[in-house]
Amino acid sequence: MNRDAKIFVAGHGGFVGSAIVRALRQRGCSRLILKPKSELDLRDALQVQYLFRKEQPEYVFLTAAHVGGSEANRERPADLIRDNLMIQHNVIDASYQTSVKKLLFLGSACLYPKHATQPMKEHALLTGALEEANEPYSIAKIAGIKMCQAYNKQYQTRYITAMPTKLYGLHHPNDGLHASNTLAALFQRFHEATQRKLPHVEILGSRESKSEFLHVDDLADACLFLMDRYEDSEIINVGTGIEVTLRELAEKIKAITGYLGEIVYTAHAEAEADRIVDIAKINGLGWQADIKLDEGLRSVYAWVLRNESLLTKH
Ligand SMILES: NC(=O)c1ccc[n+]([C@@H]2O[C@H](COP(=O)([O-])OP(=O)(O)OC[C@H]3O[C@@H](n4cnc5c(N)ncnc54)[C@H](OP(=O)(O)O)[C@@H]3O)[C@@H](O)[C@H]2O)c1
Repeated sequence: MNRDAKIFVAGHGGFVGSAIVRALRQRGCSRLILKPKSELDLRDALQVQYLFRKEQPEYVFLTAAHVGGSEANRERPADLIRDNLMIQHNVIDASYQTSVKKLLFLGSACLYPKHATQPMKEHALLTGALEEANEPYSIAKIAGIKMCQAYNKQYQTRYITAMPTKLYGLHHPNDGLHASNTLAALFQRFHEATQRKLPHVEILGSRESKSEFLHVDDLADACLFLMDRYEDSEIINVGTGIEVTLRELAEKIKAITGYLGEIVYTAHAEAEADRIVDIAKINGLGWQADIKLDEGLRSVYAWVLRNESLLTKH
């Protein structure tokens, strides 16, 4: 993918899409096709086909998705499964119809089976039951992965899928902190407790439950790396390989926010399972995450202090 390449970032206004746009611009790529949802609804096949025929992108980053947590999966399962299937179908098929050179599809670590062995290797996909709470979303996204693989097999296309772990980082300037529920909630609680000088902060969850957090700018770097170097149909994990317990994470955020009170843990009814991806494959290709968690968390908090009103946005 050279600097003159014509590149379509589907979902460029989103958390991941905007990080990919930043990374592409840093590299000097200027022929970017960026269309807001108000101008191009990716669920509309005719609009998507028209765009591809008119613009003839050479590379596609498919980050657009109807994303939602457990609540959205419970309340709007039909929207999640339909919208994601439509977006993926339209973009992948239009890429094939117009001979796009390469497409990168965004999967997610949450698509692995609920009880997958940790750390989760790529071949664990579809080896067990999914997390029920996210099933409509996961089924749609897995269909996207399978669609890329089927097109590669039948039509010799080059469509690859990255499977990022939990992300954190900053969104664009008029939006807020974007992070997994755990991280965003911790920042919010410690920040509020510091401001209000509260004697303790209550944290819901098991203090030894482990997670992994990848800075969104590292994910964007990995996506460009994979677009340049990865040619396999098999999905590929993107993570840090570094696990952090809830207790360690809480202590880090306590220190960063300057909170002086106590931390009280309240056990969760159902302990959260560890969700860590195995990154041997991407490391073997020569990529590793660059932004250390402490450094990333500090930069996020510095931004939060400058934009306090946005802290609760996500
Ligand atoms: N965030 C994470 O922690 C995380 C972790 C692992 C994997 N991922 C994966 O990364 C991908 C992107 O996630 P994200 O966090 O960047 O989500 P996001 O911030 O919600 O971004 C999704 C983007 O897709 C756009 N979009 C949705 N429906 C559309 C439609 N019908 N037409 C055109 N554009 C549409 C949205 O536009 P509007 O904003 O205008 O609706 C938004 O710009 C997803 O596949 C997700 O599974 C994310």
